[in-house]
Amino acid sequence: MKISLGAKNCLYPMPTTIVGANVNGGPNYITIAHVGIMDLGTISLGMNKIHHTNAGIKENRTFSVNIPSVAMVKETDYCGLVSGKSVDKASLFSNFYGRLETAPMIKECPINMECKLIQTVDFPRHDIFIGEIMETYCEDKYMTDNVVDFAKVQPILFIMNDTGYWQLGKRLAQAWNIGKNYKKTGLNP
Ligand SMILES: Cc1cc2nc3c(=O)[nH]c(=O)nc-3n(C[C@H](O)[C@H](O)[C@H](O)COP(=O)(O)O)c2cc1C
Repeated sequence: MKISLGAKNCLYPMPTTIVGANVNGGPNYITIAHVGIMDLGTISLGMNKIHHTNAGIKENRTFSVNIPSVAMVKETDYCGLVSGKSVDKASLFSNFYGRLETAPMIKECPINMECKLIQTVDFPRHDIFIGEIMETYCEDKYMTDNVVDFAKVQPILFIMNDTGYWQLGKRLAQAWNIGKNYKKTGLNP
């Protein structure tokens, strides 16, 4: 039996990211789970206009998207609980800058993406920041055969429906491949 839930967003889990921006000339970090992939090189962030970080993204037209691992769950949650308006969140981490020079990144995060703001969509309560990924950094210990190994990264997955942090399970199958067997075995009705 299907239960009607109303208009409930169930597009979870999402990766929990920490977005970085320079605000008033210094790094600030915000936890963001509402990220999107526009195309392979372009990503979006849905950020409520009340946040401190938004002004920095608008001013510098750059931001970073950092992927924390499960070991950083407390720091990640903290960045989503307190505002840079009253707390210095930059001191939690070792900060570094890359080629864009104004997008602060977190050394402790396995992966960092430096983005250039290319468009802002003005929603009633949110700024939708669309950015082009200009450079990506990954600690070598999180890579296998020159590819980012998410089993090593251990990203934090966020589910709004139970407001829980989850972690990755096991690899299921090879994409663009496992379906080939399905056609071959002729199970299509
Ligand atoms: C797990 C988690 C996910 C969050 N995702 C978002 C999000 O996608 N968009 C958003 O506007 N706020 C999100 N927040 C809230 C902000 O991270 C939070 O309000 C933060 O303190 C704002 O920081 P700032 O004022 O320094 O910019 C999230 C918080 C948590 C704990």
